[in-house]
Amino acid sequence: MGFNGDRDILFIVKASAPGKIILFGEHAVVYGRPALAVPVTQVHADVEITDSDSAGIWIQAPDINLHAELNTLPSDHPIASVIHNLFFLSRVSPFPSLNLKITSTIPVASGLGSGAAVTVALTRALSAHINYAMTDEQVNAFAYEIEKLHHGTPSGIDNTVITYAKPVYFIKNQVVETFKVSQPFTIVIGDTGISAPTKESVADVRMLWEADKAKWESLFDRAGAIVNQAREKIESGKPAVSTVEVWNDLGALMNQNHALLQEMTVSSLELDTLVTAALNVGALGAKMSGGGRGGNMIALVRPDQAESVARSLMEAGAKHTIITQVS
Ligand code: MEV
Repeated sequence: MGFNGDRDILFIVKASAPGKIILFGEHAVVYGRPALAVPVTQVHADVEITDSDSAGIWIQAPDINLHAELNTLPSDHPIASVIHNLFFLSRVSPFPSLNLKITSTIPVASGLGSGAAVTVALTRALSAHINYAMTDEQVNAFAYEIEKLHHGTPSGIDNTVITYAKPVYFIKNQVVETFKVSQPFTIVIGDTGISAPTKESVADVRMLWEADKAKWESLFDRAGAIVNQAREKIESGKPAVSTVEVWNDLGALMNQNHALLQEMTVSSLELDTLVTAALNVGALGAKMSGGGRGGNMIALVRPDQAESVARSLMEAGAKHTIITQVS
């Protein structure tokens, strides 16, 4: 346990960041089309910092079995790169002696934004600890730079939805807007349990796009059109449109988006199995979410169906499920 200088108080800084799901538009968003994403607060990354009595920056991240002093990590290690880059930006020198405890309930490489959430929580906790004030915009821009170091050519949607912890309509380098959810809806998230780094599916899509740009641009355009229709539905308020009509239409758009993602080759047998299982027991729509090839899928359900759809997903092989309300 550390104490801050002469002050006779325990000096602890904590920060937390949620997981996320992409509702519509993954992959096409890397190519300038819009996408919709929402935070998932049931899972989160948490960072706790205390001053250390021993010189150095001591990192405990039990979920990834990491117990190390900063200087023993390669400088491109995701956690080390956040610390080095933030201290460089804030001109902290010499480095303070700290204990960092990093925990996360977000499954790694599952499309729920675990890496971005750790980056955002760590950035907030460290900057608060060293009294380096950062706005949300600065945290987001910093987290995007870190994402680019580790994930090739990300769009920036993951760090954005996680930093602001609000629903976002996102167009790379152009638009970050929060959208109004006029008629809340329920999503069941199903985890295939297969870890699939987003970097790899994004790189594969890039290779395929390079080989046939006309075909892929048209796929991306179709995905972008679905996103815009979905946003319009989510925002359309009663009494002009009934809740059930909105849910049905959104469900149909999810199915269309999933079919496009299959064409993009980023779904997988396990994701398709869970999508089919959800639809078979009456989900209004379902799709993979995030980078694909593994990780998570989402199903839009009526609130009274959520438990039974979650159960069916488990029976069809999901490793765990989360029920979340988008509101
Ligand atoms: C990952 O959550 C979403 C992708 O579109 C990648 C990105 O936008 O950076 C697959």
